Amino acid sequence: MMWSLLFMSLISLMLIPENRTWLDSLIYCRDHNMDLAYIHDNETQVWAELELQNSTSPFVWLGLHYTCTLGFWFWVGGHPLQYKNWDPNEKGANECDMSVAINKDNQYWYSKPDNETFNFMCII
Ligand SMILES: *[C@@H]1O[C@H](CO)[C@@H](O)[C@H](O)[C@H]1NC(C)=O
Ligand SMILES: *[C@@H]1O[C@H](CO)[C@@H](O)[C@H](O)[C@H]1NC(C)=O
Ligand SMILES: *[C@@H]1O[C@H](CO)[C@@H](O)[C@H](O)[C@H]1NC(C)=O
Repeated sequence: MMWSLLFMSLISLMLIPENRTWLDSLIYCRDHNMDLAYIHDNETQVWAELELQNSTSPFVWLGLHYTCTLGFWFWVGGHPLQYKNWDPNEKGANECDMSVAINKDNQYWYSKPDNETFNFMCII
């Protein structure tokens, strides 16, 4: 309890307005002692929506990736996937080499091929 309160007060999201593939985005964040963003509740989603306003791409990568080998979605930081904000019409296509990007226009999550290049968000 104490730990989660402390943790939540320390996190912050940062938009990186450069277009990179999903993997290059992850590497960029980790090279800068951050991680690719995870969204675990409404408040973080709202924060992400604020950061999105300055993106230069129509989608922005998050750290949610589909593992084809194991067959599930996971946050790269190891956080459980509880809060979700998929486009209601999409619900996350379960396919290999897909990761999640948030749409600048409607703020829903979409699965996108890893090799597409978008802005991304790091989390501190
Ligand atoms: C969080 O999102 C859910 C689903 O959209 C909504 O029902 C709930 O009211 C939201 N809570 C807050 C605190 O915004
Ligand atoms: C977006 O960019 C403007 C202009 O540089 C800046 O004032 C604003 O704080 C930025 N918004 C966010 C959420 O970073
Ligand atoms: C991504 O990879 C797929 C499969 O190799 C390829 O068909 C597609 O053109 C690639 N897209 C980009 C944006 O590189």
